[in-house]
Amino acid sequence: METELLRRIDQLDQADPLAPFRERFVSDENGINYLDGNSLGRLSHDARAAILAAIDDEWANELIRGWEHWTELSSELGDVVGSALLGAGAGQVVISDSTSVNLYKTIRAALSLVPDRRVLLVDANDFPTDRYILEGVAAACNLELRLMATSMDEPVSVDDFAPYLDDDVALVVLSQVNYRSGALNDLARIAYLVHSVGAMLVADLSHSVGAVPITLDEDDVDFAVGCTYKYLNGGPGSPALLYARERLHSELTQPIWGWFSATDQFLMGPRYEPAPGVTQFLVGTPPVLQLAALKGALNVVCEAGIERLRTKSIAQTALALELFDDHLMARGFRLASPRESSLRGGHLTFEHPDALALSSSLFADHQVLVDYRVPNRIRFAPSPLYTSFAQVYDGIMALAAVAAR
Ligand SMILES: Cc1ncc(COP(=O)(O)O)c(C=O)c1O
Repeated sequence: METELLRRIDQLDQADPLAPFRERFVSDENGINYLDGNSLGRLSHDARAAILAAIDDEWANELIRGWEHWTELSSELGDVVGSALLGAGAGQVVISDSTSVNLYKTIRAALSLVPDRRVLLVDANDFPTDRYILEGVAAACNLELRLMATSMDEPVSVDDFAPYLDDDVALVVLSQVNYRSGALNDLARIAYLVHSVGAMLVADLSHSVGAVPITLDEDDVDFAVGCTYKYLNGGPGSPALLYARERLHSELTQPIWGWFSATDQFLMGPRYEPAPGVTQFLVGTPPVLQLAALKGALNVVCEAGIERLRTKSIAQTALALELFDDHLMARGFRLASPRESSLRGGHLTFEHPDALALSSSLFADHQVLVDYRVPNRIRFAPSPLYTSFAQVYDGIMALAAVAAR
């Protein structure tokens, strides 16, 4: 039985078209089985080479002249991410600042389009920064913040919205993939619902970009933000994506009037005049070295292609689920993610009363690195670019072994 399973896993690895991509990543010194790529992706050789080239060739030799091309990086990479991963036509995405700051900018920009509305709506189970930024905006602008009760472990449903959505609502902020459960929300359906009451949608793509195919233009999403250090492997502090729908560009106002968002930046004019298009969302000097690393990292993601990444990701979480049923369920674990593959993103979540202690032992005894989330959740996130099927098996079996002890 077990031999049969191991043979099947070996076949999955042999037949995996993404297997060669493992070599594109720098191995760590300890041979860690890294199942935390949804928090911080691994370092790729491309990202490393790109950041070193930006230091040694560009900073060292070009000096100030580097700005002749560095100023374009945010928009250039925005278009790469937009076309390869977000289903966004050119000129709607920039890479800048953090996801938190981009949330602030897009929320205020959305509000500028519906100035008479008084309510902000967010999933009560969404990531803290999304809720906190909204709370701050609500306090500063004297608006009402509604926290929508949801199941957390399943996608947000139309019924979840019903008690909260009315024509006082200015905007909804929602993660496409919930950070705790991995539940995948249907953006097209939610955009339709939100628009039906005349409100705007700001989607947080932090846990979906690079993990699931995204179709922002087609889904009619108004604004989106998201991290690039998770499945895109841009590195710690890699700046975030920001998408703003083209048809809104000429009407909106973004709230941080920095010189990188001004038209004719180097004319140093007396008054702020926003640049046309999505570049009006830029603020100040971008982190050039981080953008260089992201550019390298994106080569790898784009070469693999989002369809192949999603196919392998589903196969890996399906294998993990099968092993969960056979080895973890009887040991006090509860699945806190959707079972149906079309309803989940790239990670699975297992609940256990001793989740914290188990995740520590998992690393100490087996070199398996997963993510613990309060109060009792373990996030299990294989990254299809560098995790093998054998590592998925090893990770679950190690968890079963520490739980058995
Ligand atoms: C869903 C989600 N949104 C936002 C953030 C915060 O991003 P940042 O700290 O880069 O602003 C995170 C970070 O993990 C996240 O998971």
